[in-house]
Amino acid sequence: MAELDLILLGPPGAGKGTQGSQLTADFGLPHVATGDMLRAAREAGTELGRIASRYMEAGELVPDDVIIAMILERLADDDAADGFLLDGFPRTTQQADALAAQLAEHGRRLTAALLIDVPDEVVIRRLSGRRIDPATGRIYHLDFDPPPRGVDPAALVQRDDDREDTVRRRLAVYHEQTEPLIAYYDERALLARFDGTLSPEEVHGHIRSTLVTLALEEDA
Ligand code: AP5
Repeated sequence: MAELDLILLGPPGAGKGTQGSQLTADFGLPHVATGDMLRAAREAGTELGRIASRYMEAGELVPDDVIIAMILERLADDDAADGFLLDGFPRTTQQADALAAQLAEHGRRLTAALLIDVPDEVVIRRLSGRRIDPATGRIYHLDFDPPPRGVDPAALVQRDDDREDTVRRRLAVYHEQTEPLIAYYDERALLARFDGTLSPEEVHGHIRSTLVTLALEEDA
């Protein structure tokens, strides 16, 4: 199988985590999710977790130097040597430049930036209903993807930053600091856009078939 070095782009609540876990299973790629890494660091009470915590609670981005160091170290791990799916990184032009430089240093280049597009009003509805199973990490939605029988809804947890005021701040930060990456990757002919308002299965099918085509092109 060809090497796939991929990033998932999109606003909060676009479905990056939902799609990321399925795509990494499909293509055998490590799912490198910055938000999950920062939340794990916060739970573990590390210095990184303490620094990140106050930015995350406010819906602001963690400083570039902190995030870039964390991700470049993660991408040096053996399991990312033949491909990866980054979810939540890069989020600024400085992060995108750092990723490109690191890949170039190792004779690699990004295969594609997968943009999951969703309007703001859909984001607010999705994040207010999002719940996570702390035992498995499985993401649910109270209306769109409710937990099955056997999973106790009362045991599911809501993320601290899914309160409506914080979601609105996260959206504003996305439009100011991350949206410019759409033009950045489009200019480099790396952007693939997907309609994130479709069902999770439809979004998955569209991204999956694009990746199968890209893998075949890389192999040719
Ligand atoms: P992070 O954890 O990355 O959050 P995010 O990007 O805001 O994305 P989310 O995890 O909220 O949403 P998602 O797109 O994964 O959607 P999901 O699949 O869960 O980052 C958190 C914080 O960490 C940031 O605010 C920042 O402080 C910091 N941080 C992280 N990376 C950073 C970086 N690079 N630089 C600086 N700071 C950084 O789906 C959402 C809901 O919708 C779920 O309930 C799901 O069931 C439902 N759903 C999903 N798809 C569909 C669909 N197609 N139809 C209907 N419902 C759907």
